[in-house]
Amino acid sequence: MRNDKKLLGQYFTNPTIAMFMAQLVLDSKTKSVLDPAVGPGVFLQCMEKIKTNQLEYTAYEIDDNMIDVFKKNNLYNVELCKHDYLTDIKQKKYDAIICNPPYNKFQEIINRKEYISNFKKYYKINMSGYSNLCVYFLIKSLHELKKTGKCAYIMPYEFLNTGYGTVIKKFLLNEKRLKTIYKVNNKIDLFDDATTTSCIMYFDSSNNREIEFISIDSIDELSNGKYQNRVLHKYEELNPEEKWNKYFCNYKTKYNNLILFRDVAKVSRGIATGNNSYFCLSLNEIIDKGISENAKVRCIAKSADIKKGVFTEKDYLELEKENKKVYLFNGCNAETRQDYEYIDYGESVSVNKSFLNSHRTPWFSLEKKEAAPIWITVFNRGNLKVVRNETNAKNLTTFHGVYFKDYDEELINAFFCYLLTPISQEILSKNKREYGKGLDKFEPNDLNDSSVFDVAKLDKSDLNKVLSIYEKIKKEGIGNVKLEELNNIFLRYIL
Ligand SMILES: C[S@@+](CC[C@H](N)C(=O)[O-])C[C@H]1O[C@@H](n2cnc3c(N)ncnc32)[C@H](O)[C@@H]1O
Repeated sequence: MRNDKKLLGQYFTNPTIAMFMAQLVLDSKTKSVLDPAVGPGVFLQCMEKIKTNQLEYTAYEIDDNMIDVFKKNNLYNVELCKHDYLTDIKQKKYDAIICNPPYNKFQEIINRKEYISNFKKYYKINMSGYSNLCVYFLIKSLHELKKTGKCAYIMPYEFLNTGYGTVIKKFLLNEKRLKTIYKVNNKIDLFDDATTTSCIMYFDSSNNREIEFISIDSIDELSNGKYQNRVLHKYEELNPEEKWNKYFCNYKTKYNNLILFRDVAKVSRGIATGNNSYFCLSLNEIIDKGISENAKVRCIAKSADIKKGVFTEKDYLELEKENKKVYLFNGCNAETRQDYEYIDYGESVSVNKSFLNSHRTPWFSLEKKEAAPIWITVFNRGNLKVVRNETNAKNLTTFHGVYFKDYDEELINAFFCYLLTPISQEILSKNKREYGKGLDKFEPNDLNDSSVFDVAKLDKSDLNKVLSIYEKIKKEGIGNVKLEELNNIFLRYIL
């Protein structure tokens, strides 16, 4: 038996949430109940409190220590299976299934191959090798749910939005038992210490025609059942290939004139050096090491170095003067003895052996990327940080670069202004990945797939207004500009 809190996904459900889920699945006809990852047993304890008739409990737990905790906490009669739930394939079906499964990334699933082949054999489903462990739990449980049964599962919200979720969403759409997805705002602690945004999925016995997408902002909403944000979508409207986060809001019908970000520009990640402490250098280091003009490339390594919305040549020179790391060493352009000595030094301290560099030929080559006119930070708290880069500095992975297709300088400046507005931030936020505790992440394709306003649609007078605000931002900084004014210009086209 394995014994590691993280590996076993031992994050315990908040009792209010557990009670809410118990109430969802329990009714006067429930007899048999399954918890496939029981831990200390919070769900069964809730059921004991609200049951109206005798229940037969079955529970699975793989960890010996947890089994001891469970036995101390739960004195009622439970068939406790000390076994990996996923390999215990039985024909038995249950009236109610309730679960907070372990969340483990695919790399951490030791028995991945066995699960995939079992699932193909028994459930005729081709699971993606990238699936999170919780997804196997969900699929198996849905096969063990009686036709008249009900099921509630806590799942990581990411699975609705990532590639491995597609096959599962197809399955769910086919089954038509999914009734509600409660997306729980990441400021609410569903568990003791996990930092993932989660959702509660509720399945019932009907042949559902639509799915309710409910966003929960406070635990009270769950207790009193008064939902502020509830959107219904018909089964046939739902596309398993798409990210489902957009279904939690009605923005498609709310907004006009939006196009895909990828139709305007391509967002791609910044340069990954493989070893910033070797490749990123300050001006003093460049001088000390005697790196030649040709072998240095301007760069921005840290998002914290960028203090203003518009990053100009003057700002770059100031960072250089402050001795920030604003150069990359490009060994492929080495021409002087000192350049080659720096390459030799890299080998002497094994930079060539690090993962990325050992897979490059030569190991010191840099990814070929142009300087991007707009940068967007990868991780954000609250609003996305957007920078208009007027220099030829390249960005490292702290920023994604935005490379435009047809926009000229004026339209790029106007688009930058648009990205700053609350309306743009709200629309883009539909595609964010929530890391929990208020931290959000955008992968390049999250942005490429999101909707933006095509600033080429601005009429001449509005474009001029936006461009004069751009000049103000450049001179005085974002803090001194009323974003409402910009927002109102764009809202006239979008709403
Ligand atoms: C996220 S915790 C949930 C515990 C409890 N149900 C709750 O909600 O507080 C998941 C539990 O599943 C157990 N577990 C992990 N892998 C398992 C497996 N393959 N089969 C059965 N239990 C497993 C872990 O030891 C852990 O106690």
